Amino acid sequence: MTDALATEWFTHSRFGLFLHWGLYSIPARAEWLKTIQKMRDEQYDVYFREFNPTRYDPHAWAAMAKQAGMRYAVLTAKHHEGFCLFDSQHTSYTSVHTPAGRDLFREYVEAFRAAGLKVGFYYSLLDWHHPEYTIDRHHPLRDLAPDDPERTRRSLPKYVDYLHAQVRELLTNYGKIDLLWFDFSFDDKHSDAWRATELVKMVRELQPWILLNNRLTLGHADTATQNNALGDITTPEMAVPAEGIRDAAGKPIAWETCITLNDHWGYTRDDHHFKTPAQVVRMLVECVSKGGNLLLNVGPTAKGVIQEEATAVLLRVGDWMEANHDSIYGAGPAEMPKPDWGRYTRGEDGTLYAHVFERPMGPIAFHGLAGRVKRARFLADGSELVLNKPWNVPKNSHDLHVDLPEAPLLDELDTVIALHVD
Ligand code: GLC
Repeated sequence: MTDALATEWFTHSRFGLFLHWGLYSIPARAEWLKTIQKMRDEQYDVYFREFNPTRYDPHAWAAMAKQAGMRYAVLTAKHHEGFCLFDSQHTSYTSVHTPAGRDLFREYVEAFRAAGLKVGFYYSLLDWHHPEYTIDRHHPLRDLAPDDPERTRRSLPKYVDYLHAQVRELLTNYGKIDLLWFDFSFDDKHSDAWRATELVKMVRELQPWILLNNRLTLGHADTATQNNALGDITTPEMAVPAEGIRDAAGKPIAWETCITLNDHWGYTRDDHHFKTPAQVVRMLVECVSKGGNLLLNVGPTAKGVIQEEATAVLLRVGDWMEANHDSIYGAGPAEMPKPDWGRYTRGEDGTLYAHVFERPMGPIAFHGLAGRVKRARFLADGSELVLNKPWNVPKNSHDLHVDLPEAPLLDELDTVIALHVD
């Protein structure tokens, strides 16, 4: 486990982009297709022979992430299908050997780094292509008979050698990597099977500053609630924990929830169920109010494009971030009870941010703050909220009540009020 200083950029950033991209973007039915359809390599490799994302422009991806207010990104260098977006000495199952003909991961790293974003990669512990990866309940060939030679000839330790060797390549050939995201452990494919201690030692030696998630050593089900000794970041999935996440001693720990922008990770052509900008902003605020990060996922197309529907949402979120990011970057829990109208976050300099999602009836109430607020300003335009006591609130209340302007709130996504407290 690295120290608190190492996680500082991460907890400060709060908002990142997750990118699931691989051969599965061609069938466009998400990243588990090969195993859901129990496909053999011969069937699936149609996509390998065809993969050619002619519109891939990682500079455009990075520019969009930046405009959305994101500060880091995590790309699937290899997902469960086993296909690698990077050049590898240990397999030819990489983008270099498709019609794309080149190392697409390198272009991603360089573009995101050039844009000033922190760079991470996802590496799947599962591998549905590697000939030594043993056939488990998630594997496309799970229906083979127990004594089928295709099953019995495999050796997990040999696959794990490959896994270690590829992680070494990824951490040696691309300069500084900020975040490493392993996925995932289950059943007996767990810490010892991956030789996790040895692997983490290598990771830390190659890139001492790197942050590591917790899925090498934890079963999926536990990730929302537990920290572990080998990782720096706890990674709940498709859920914002009810409260922040703490270690066994009760100390808050770094966490990041990953959430899809529509309902799938890998590109799914027929899924148009995108979250609204308001949902995204409020989810992000909720995470920050509980001391966590949001890693929001998009699945680029087979041509290498992030869908317009996704971009539109992210750009609207970016407008909000542009005006309100002081309440997000470096911000965290306010240690205040959750208000009826939204959430609180506390900024780096101690400013209390009231995120108003729903306009209350009458004056807005700030719990326990009567007489303690020097100034109240809308964060987006810096304009004043007059602190005169409204006529219609209890005289002896400990809560501060403030009249909101009669006009609609400044931003229907989330209107932020900065409260400068004594
Ligand atoms: C789920 C999905 C997997 C995805 C991961 C991201 O486990 O099955 O495909 O990569 O979530 O956390």
